[in-house]
Amino acid sequence: MKTTHTHYIGSAVMMKKVADRSVGLVVTSPPYPMIDMWDEIFSRQDRKIEKALKRSDGILAFELMHQVLDRVWKEVFRVLSPGGFACINIGDATRTIGDNFALYPNHARILTATQALGFTALPCILWRKQTNAPNKFMGSGMLPAGAYVTLEHEYILILRKGGKREFTSPATKENRRQSALFWEERNQWFSDIWMDLKGTRQAMGKQKKRNRSGAFPFDLAYRLINMYSVKQDLVLDPFLGTGTTTLAAMTAGRNSAGYEIDPSLLENFYDKCKDSLGQFSSAIQHRIDLHNEFVQERLEAGKLIKHENAYYGFPVITRQEKELVFSLPVSVEQQDDERIVVNYDVPSRETATTVTATPQNTPAVSRPSGAKSKADGLLFPDFDPGS
Ligand SMILES: C[S@@+](CC[C@H](N)C(=O)[O-])C[C@H]1O[C@@H](n2cnc3c(N)ncnc32)[C@H](O)[C@@H]1O
Repeated sequence: MKTTHTHYIGSAVMMKKVADRSVGLVVTSPPYPMIDMWDEIFSRQDRKIEKALKRSDGILAFELMHQVLDRVWKEVFRVLSPGGFACINIGDATRTIGDNFALYPNHARILTATQALGFTALPCILWRKQTNAPNKFMGSGMLPAGAYVTLEHEYILILRKGGKREFTSPATKENRRQSALFWEERNQWFSDIWMDLKGTRQAMGKQKKRNRSGAFPFDLAYRLINMYSVKQDLVLDPFLGTGTTTLAAMTAGRNSAGYEIDPSLLENFYDKCKDSLGQFSSAIQHRIDLHNEFVQERLEAGKLIKHENAYYGFPVITRQEKELVFSLPVSVEQQDDERIVVNYDVPSRETATTVTATPQNTPAVSRPSGAKSKADGLLFPDFDPGS
């Protein structure tokens, strides 16, 4: 199996290189209106923004910044295939302009604009983005009625183009089954508050225009890709930044495309992808390890696990997880300045369950100790926690 990853330097307000209805999923985080680190990049795209900020007209600046983003959401709607999802990570902004401290509700403005374009809005996710800054509380301290709540969460807006996606042919159904999540991942990932995401290092080199990249955590993109697309889909990020969405798509066995207006962010991107091969297999290994821990705990609690995964032989809770299989990235090739190809190792049903000793970068898949294969006629009831 192979996947292809394309990155274009340019503005996503016109994504000419992305065909209509060709994208299965959009995962992105735009520059946040009214957060001052993005003022310059917005002002370069519409000079009226700079003027509004100079006149201290926060409401107008907010609206003009969103009008830049609206053009990108319109393109996102065009390129998504019917039933495709757009997951937009966005934080609201607080800012003092003149004497007035106010909230600028970015998530609400984007929801209104995208619904007007024809998107169906679905329940969104809040993720906790904790700040430990010593000056994080603003206002009158311990004296009532003059202090402001600190924003320590961001939104992941979840939008769909049209109705539910159809999987009709035997091949697409099989691919969907192979792209399944673990039951316990479903329980955690499809809850509306994520408390466990770690922020990501955003510092940039001295030669870069900004000192922070605004990158989101790898796990945020990787989860969303696993939740809302299937293997070999095309995942698009119109605000690609440092390429986190591409790295997550590579790990998940999806194709990807991205636009980024600042060329300095994607310098040496091929080297970064090549150097990330170890990170890709660690992410997969981590999922397998967590699953094995989950199984172990369940068996120790004396609960039965009915099903067995056809590729790895480990127990799984539901029938839907029986064909879940990881495509393991094994090499990365540069095709040209814009395109990178990833090659994968995909286990076959015959060989996969025997994989325990593994070459470098290959996740080790072992059964939880004490669990016996369903092929032996047992449903793991006789697990001995002491063994
Ligand atoms: C919040 S950052 C995205 C960070 C990215 N998720 C990551 O993990 O690195 C937003 C990015 O959008 C880029 N940008 C701003 N306006 C753009 C436009 N019109 N088209 C494409 N990229 C744009 C900025 O340069 C910035 O890198």
